[in-house]
Amino acid sequence: MPWYKNAVFYEIYLRAFYDSNGDGHGDLRGLIQKLDYLQELGVDCLWLMPTYPSPLKDDGYDIADYRSIHPDYGNLDDFKALLEAAHARNLRLILDLVINHTSDQHPWFQSARADRNSPFRDYYVWSDDPQRYKRARIIFCDTETSNWTWDEQAGQYYWHRFYACQPDLNYDNPAVQDEILDVMRFWLDLGVDGFRVDAVPYLFEREGTNCENLPETHAFLQRMRRFVDEHYPDRLLLCEANQWPQDVRAYFGDTEGKEFHMAFHFPLMPRLFMALAKADYTPIRWVFEQTPPIPDDCQWCTFLRNHDELTLEMVTPEEREWMWKTYAPQRRMRLNLGIRRRLAPLLDNNRRKIELLNSLLFTLPGAPILYYGDEIGMGDDLNLSDRNGLRTPMQWDASPQAGFSTAKRPYASPVPTPGYRPQEVNVAAQMADPQSLWHAIRRMIRARKQYPSLQCGTLRWLEGNDPSIAAFERACNGQRMLLIHNLSSQTRPCAVKITNAKKLTNALTGQEFIHPLELQNYRLAPWEYLWLLLS
Ligand code: GLC
Repeated sequence: MPWYKNAVFYEIYLRAFYDSNGDGHGDLRGLIQKLDYLQELGVDCLWLMPTYPSPLKDDGYDIADYRSIHPDYGNLDDFKALLEAAHARNLRLILDLVINHTSDQHPWFQSARADRNSPFRDYYVWSDDPQRYKRARIIFCDTETSNWTWDEQAGQYYWHRFYACQPDLNYDNPAVQDEILDVMRFWLDLGVDGFRVDAVPYLFEREGTNCENLPETHAFLQRMRRFVDEHYPDRLLLCEANQWPQDVRAYFGDTEGKEFHMAFHFPLMPRLFMALAKADYTPIRWVFEQTPPIPDDCQWCTFLRNHDELTLEMVTPEEREWMWKTYAPQRRMRLNLGIRRRLAPLLDNNRRKIELLNSLLFTLPGAPILYYGDEIGMGDDLNLSDRNGLRTPMQWDASPQAGFSTAKRPYASPVPTPGYRPQEVNVAAQMADPQSLWHAIRRMIRARKQYPSLQCGTLRWLEGNDPSIAAFERACNGQRMLLIHNLSSQTRPCAVKITNAKKLTNALTGQEFIHPLELQNYRLAPWEYLWLLLS
């Protein structure tokens, strides 16, 4: 089985993780010091948000140099040391590869805008007419009013799907395609284990379309995969395409050729939150029914939260309103088509609800990814703009700077909200307490890695007459597990009847559970979950 299929992933915002030199910014050397922690938690693969030189207008998703490290974070030697240290601990590391656009500070764009005859002019998408590609939506709809921005120096409009400071690259130009493969070669030669590829659906533009998921985009991605397969087998390409399952399915490739090994499952995420708040598992079941099968060597990457707003692009307008009303009652909690809050605050800091959603994440199909800090239930800071409120320093201990930095003024302060401050939420205290959320998550990670049926088993829903009980079986090579979740705030009879098992073992504690015939009468506490091994 390819390594990524049963891996547990962990997303890191390097600036927030650990500051090794006291300058107020987390850095590569700091992460090296925390690898033991990550190993102890039990994750397998780290995804680093962009670490390249950048003016940081979109936190590094605006790259000014693809082949170097932002000085805040260290240098290439530090990066090599990190890779070596990670690999020595059996941890893999993937980078964020932002290929749809660069920063407007990138030398390519600087040259392109300065001179119509520059060889780089055609690296970007220019127009005299800002009415082209009208059908393409605006993604950062809270800040941008058009996908075209007039450039005084260039004397033309340029195309951008995100912030105006992020001009889109022109993939119709073969030189751009070659450049990107060359960038990949650079990092793959250094030994990175792959890439999380950013904003994949928008590479090409075609009049009369919404400029997403175009055949030309797929053709380039097949080229990218051929390149990786040929020279770097065993490395991972993970696709960020915020699209419906049938559209994302195409990013795994088809008979023409392969594309990504993995893709995020965006539509599942809001439905986990919906199911919980409605105490009804139907939305989860529905989204799995909409999810087409994928090739054997591919895997979904599932998540609860990440560094962006909790996106509500993959729900209906009514569902979006409902999600906003339920999970973002204050206007300032909303951003674009989403909610800029972390997991714990979204769930009222309710330990049972936090564990329950994590249990679904770790037992449903797909390889799960954790967002840094969510393993201890970190909070967010709504006073910070954009998505910065969920990118605050990792809370290592109870000290005022959370053990993150010795600087007087770090890039951001730890979350100041009562209930979430470092003295209330931190790694050291939770590691020392076997009853903590951290230990609960760690147990889930361990159990998940122990049982093949959780890694790639089939999924079968067990019908009951209570929609608040999400019960399903996962099975693989004769190994079977029964997963039961009470989504409601009330005690509920389990109502699941099983006839084909002699013994039930609690997979999280290793202890024998009640007799299978008694399961039906078992009463589940509010938001209780059970991982049961059937034998
Ligand atoms: C992706 C990233 C997001 C970024 C955007 C533009 O959606 O997750 O953080 O702002 O791409 O690069």
